Amino acid sequence: MSPGQALMRVDELADSSAVVVYLDQYASLIVTRRGDAIAAFRNKCPHAGYPLQHADGRVVVQEGRYMVCSAHGASFGLMDGACAGGPCNGDGLERVAVVVRDGVVCVA
Ligand code: FES
Repeated sequence: MSPGQALMRVDELADSSAVVVYLDQYASLIVTRRGDAIAAFRNKCPHAGYPLQHADGRVVVQEGRYMVCSAHGASFGLMDGACAGGPCNGDGLERVAVVVRDGVVCVA
């Protein structure tokens, strides 16, 4: 992951959603959107280190506000990654700074 690295187009990201973006064969980020706000997090649950998505690649977003880990159900704020419940012991997702340039979400 390097500054300026393009992750995805903003218009590919629905409002109140979270998608997985692969950086390479092993590492991925979750990019989230609410309205015009965009955020990104390392795709590694602080509970046991699993990625959040289900086998079909989908990241579950509940009530438009929480991402839910597919492994054991920890939930995290969509835009701040803070623990919102479950077995993550108050630990949140690690945030990754991003910027939007010409409609593209990039690593800051
Ligand atoms: S690894 Fe996410 S809740 Fe256990």
